[in-house]
Amino acid sequence: MVKNNVNLLIFGSFLGCFFSLKFTFIFCIALIIKLVRLVLRSFTPFKNCSTFDPENFSFGNTFIDHMIICEYENGKWGDVKLVPYGQLPFSPAMMGVNYGQACFEGMKAYKDKDGQVFLFRPEKNFARINKSASRLAMPEVTEEMFIDGLKALVDIDRAWIPQGEGMSLYIRPLIFATEEALKARVSNKYMFAIVATPAKSYYSEPVSVLISDFYSRAANGGVGSAKAAGNYAASFYPTQLAIEQGYEQIIWTDDATHEYFEESGTMNVFVRINDTIYTPPTSEKILDGVTRDSFIQLAKRRCIEVKIEPVAVKTVIEAQKNGTLKEVWGVGTAVVTTVFKALGYNGEKLDLPSLSLEESFALTLQKDLVDIQTNKVEDPFGWRVLVEKNILETA
Ligand code: COI
Repeated sequence: MVKNNVNLLIFGSFLGCFFSLKFTFIFCIALIIKLVRLVLRSFTPFKNCSTFDPENFSFGNTFIDHMIICEYENGKWGDVKLVPYGQLPFSPAMMGVNYGQACFEGMKAYKDKDGQVFLFRPEKNFARINKSASRLAMPEVTEEMFIDGLKALVDIDRAWIPQGEGMSLYIRPLIFATEEALKARVSNKYMFAIVATPAKSYYSEPVSVLISDFYSRAANGGVGSAKAAGNYAASFYPTQLAIEQGYEQIIWTDDATHEYFEESGTMNVFVRINDTIYTPPTSEKILDGVTRDSFIQLAKRRCIEVKIEPVAVKTVIEAQKNGTLKEVWGVGTAVVTTVFKALGYNGEKLDLPSLSLEESFALTLQKDLVDIQTNKVEDPFGWRVLVEKNILETA
């Protein structure tokens, strides 16, 4: 509205300037206002979100200007489109929402101090989304759709990536069934989409977690190793119950006996007893987390002993009682690391030590990881992937 008024003013003044000097003066003022606006706009990092405050926002509610979409029909994927972020028209009879044929990925882009932008191990997310898609009888996406789509999106909206400690762009690729049909069968239509939101670390303070003795996140033969949307839906109710008991998260235990740790909240879980780290092996019930794998490799590089083996609840509780349990923490893309300050078990709240950065394996490994992700240090693993500028123009 304001912009239109300025344009009208310029046009009107332009005509008027033929008739009087007064109008020439107004024309010049309007032109200056327009030029100042243009200059200001090109220096404003968060272009379409004047109210966005990079110092103070909650995770996942603000979306960048664009998104990627691609539709699947008649047995094949169509063209990948980079479009303005917005709503999509779907029927309530869409199979994705009725039968839960939907999966997603979580990954991040980081901006270094010079403004260069990097993805972190995107090939792992590409492989995993296809693993999830296959498990849910959905079509796999191609590397071109996934990796090139990601790069094009991140490049065009690079101004949205917040810079600085703990800041990143959280990227959410997803596949969901879009056919309008209520018969319980595999859908014939799907959408692949990528959206993204600026992010700080997800849970920043240490949290108390309840060791589950009834609910499970996954079952033998189930979809635990897929990033299936339904896995998250099923976790909300037990998590609400845990919150009512004064905990922030749950440590999921195995469905058969509840004697072994599996995951925690939306994260993989690590336990440190004395100076050895333990984490359960990935399986059909445990997600093969990219952050989990990175932590294991970083710990080994520091010559910290890592044991990938079943982690018994009994062992952890005994270690807490005899003082050898040093740390328990969760890792995931969104959070990077969440340190646990207490474990709830059998009606007791068992405190964990509060360690400094120098003492804590969790915080030290987190720092190692974030330093690589944000290009503060060398990347001996080859994990960072640079996002070139102006990808679409040079393609
Ligand atoms: C991630 O860390 O990417 C997750 O999956 C957590 C998400 C549910 C916010």
